[in-house]
Amino acid sequence: MNMPLLQEAQKIFIYPTEKKIHGNFQIQNRRFLGNKFKLLDFIGDIVKFKCGTVRSLCDIFAGTGVVGYRFNSRNVKIISNDILYSNYLPLRTFLKFQQINLGRLQDSIRCLNSLNPQKDNYFSTHFGDRYFTLDNARKIGAIREAIEEMTITMDEKAALITSLLYATDKVANTVGHYDAFRADLDMVQPLHLLTPEIKLECNLDNEVYQEDANSLIRKITCDVLYIDPPYNSRQYCDSYHLLENLATWDKPSVYGKAQKMDRSHLKSRYCMKSAPDAFEDLIQNADCKHILVSYNNTGETKDVRSNARIKDEEIVQILKKKGKVQTFERDYKAFTTGKSITNSHTERVFYCEVLKRI
Ligand SMILES: C[S@@+](CC[C@H](N)C(=O)[O-])C[C@H]1O[C@@H](n2cnc3c(N)ncnc32)[C@H](O)[C@@H]1O
Repeated sequence: MNMPLLQEAQKIFIYPTEKKIHGNFQIQNRRFLGNKFKLLDFIGDIVKFKCGTVRSLCDIFAGTGVVGYRFNSRNVKIISNDILYSNYLPLRTFLKFQQINLGRLQDSIRCLNSLNPQKDNYFSTHFGDRYFTLDNARKIGAIREAIEEMTITMDEKAALITSLLYATDKVANTVGHYDAFRADLDMVQPLHLLTPEIKLECNLDNEVYQEDANSLIRKITCDVLYIDPPYNSRQYCDSYHLLENLATWDKPSVYGKAQKMDRSHLKSRYCMKSAPDAFEDLIQNADCKHILVSYNNTGETKDVRSNARIKDEEIVQILKKKGKVQTFERDYKAFTTGKSITNSHTERVFYCEVLKRI
């Protein structure tokens, strides 16, 4: 397979983290499996060298939304989408709000931070002394209930729940997902809500959706389509059931050691055997000029759940039906400062210059 190296993407770089304002949090300040924050310069270089002037970009499996956010400016329309409500609310907060009464939001945050519940609630009953200390679990449940009862706009509600989701992640006794909790309950610092740092002026034209990617693709058009689907059988709704439960707040029954709810309506085809069909359908229906696909290549492992659902050759063949394909690859050594490399894991982006528009 053709694997040209993008020279500009080979440099060792330091990620330009913007200076955080005290009491605020930024879009990337959360743990999320497969997030592309550390690859933003690599993706940015490909867009810069291959796509020319970009007026719109769709991040159709947005997760944290950091990829769309990277390109967000007054002149670029960003369309973000994710099937999970716990991702939709932060996407809406960071990439859709054009106006928000900051003083009112900060007052609400102060008021929620001052809650000190002494009794159990839905959240503490199921998740206290497991994923969280009992005190933190009681506070998370009480804050979520209070948000439900506040007389606020949908935008304010989304911002407050986003603040709670990010704060919850900071005190979770996990390795970054909720398939399990760690044996030692050592995340004992008290939960504290912060204010989201939003660039309101960049969000003028943006759109945010919570839809299945294959259904949304039929309704949108963009210059650049960025595709970063789950790549193995591990469903994101399984890994993030707890945050989804907290975001939706329907208080469903939960079961098993991990205390998961019913997630059958959230299962992604990209984690199933039919992933290649779903991918082909997505590409066939994409109305865009450029496509970038991130897809992991951890190779074949003993644990079949970790194996990629779509083969590289399939990705290339499907993209070739749409246009001219190139594969860009970056070894993880590009991220080190020259120390020895034991992990041969690479990150790839498949690029397609679309020749056959629909
Ligand atoms: C690899 S992650 C994306 C990570 C993201 N690029 C980031 O930097 O945070 C894949 C995302 O796709 C979402 N997803 C899975 N199946 C989907 C579908 N059929 N339609 C829309 N989103 C889906 C998952 O919820 C998950 O957030």
